[in-house]
Amino acid sequence: PTNEAEVEVFSVPSYACQRRTTLENRNTVLTDALSLLAENAELSAEEGRGVAFRRAAAVLKVLPEPVTDMTQLKGLPCLGEHSLRVIKDILENGASSEVESTKQSERFKALKVLTGVFGVGAKTADRWIREGIHDLQQLKDSRQTLNRAQRAGLEHYDDINQPVSKAEADAIGEIVEEAVASVLPGAQVTLIGGFRRGKLTGHDVDFLITHPEEGREVGLMPKIVSWLESQGFLLYQKTIRNSYLESDDGPARPCSNMDRFERCFSVFKLAEDEKRRAGQTQSHHASAEDGGLKPWRAVRVDLVVSPISQFAFALLGWTGSKLFERELRRWAGHEKTMSLSSHALYDNTQRTYLRATSEEEIFAHLGLDYIPPSERNA
Ligand code: CTP
Ligand code: MN
Ligand code: MN
Ligand code: MN
Repeated sequence: PTNEAEVEVFSVPSYACQRRTTLENRNTVLTDALSLLAENAELSAEEGRGVAFRRAAAVLKVLPEPVTDMTQLKGLPCLGEHSLRVIKDILENGASSEVESTKQSERFKALKVLTGVFGVGAKTADRWIREGIHDLQQLKDSRQTLNRAQRAGLEHYDDINQPVSKAEADAIGEIVEEAVASVLPGAQVTLIGGFRRGKLTGHDVDFLITHPEEGREVGLMPKIVSWLESQGFLLYQKTIRNSYLESDDGPARPCSNMDRFERCFSVFKLAEDEKRRAGQTQSHHASAEDGGLKPWRAVRVDLVVSPISQFAFALLGWTGSKLFERELRRWAGHEKTMSLSSHALYDNTQRTYLRATSEEEIFAHLGLDYIPPSERNA
């Protein structure tokens, strides 16, 4: 509420994990611009700049009104000089020259296309660009050796870069449920990632799997993968075994942010009739191939297995958003002298692990109000 003489000034706490960020965003023009600069920084190995733009965008996401005047931003956290310049440019000129020139730049376009290949990160894309490879045709024509993930990524490029719908995520969920029930009755499957936060589309589908009896989950992932493979559901999979208790070169070290659960990065083959079985209507994008309709699509799926004793930490750590997770760990470290991972919460002052069987307990340990998944869309 404002009158003509004064603009509304907003008040926002500085950590994203202190804020309720729903999918409703009144400032998409500004947040899209800052997110693009964040993406460009991340693709250019400038992680610090990337985080700064992500934090700035996240602050604008929680504002109750569209920003119309720079004075409204006074006192807001995380808005650095660079982000403010971008916002000012957009408010005054309708667009940011830096954002527009980034979008148009050959380098950014090439980085986007090449990292769109599953299995290709910023470093590989950068090397290819320096070797003159800027698009998929040039990649195919070059004699680059591709690993198994990259070959699958190239083969299923269009499908993998097409957003996954909630209906498709639910259909995948039914398949994963069936696989898990077949190989370990009583094991539980939970949808995590963006779909747990209520997003309507995603770049993949993420699942967390556990069993209520500690230890029963050991060795579970290879069994799930074998079942899925035998049923023809997998176009690609790579399983990374649990490295929390043991690793190639000796006993576990104090845990870093890296998570050490047994997990599987995969590409599912989702048939149109699987979607219908899951109660969905016909897909809108069955594509022509070999003169006929391709009755399936490729979907990226991530599976994670956690022991029940770590389930709450895994659930919190894999629900995202990525910035929300990063901010939770920063809050824990800087404000509470604690270390949070997807496995545990350690109090560095009391020198003790803080147990939790629910996300609510973890927020309470951290001295934070509970934020439900649908409000973690920072
Ligand atoms: N994550 C992780 N380690 C990885 C990859 C992801 O801990 N190697 C976590 C991320 O921090 C995030 C969650 O897993 O909290 C889901 O990641 P991702 O699928 O990449 O993102 P989503 O939020 O699900 O977004 P999208 O809809 O684009 O998939
Ligand atoms: Mn990639
Ligand atoms: Mn995801
Ligand atoms: Mn994922």
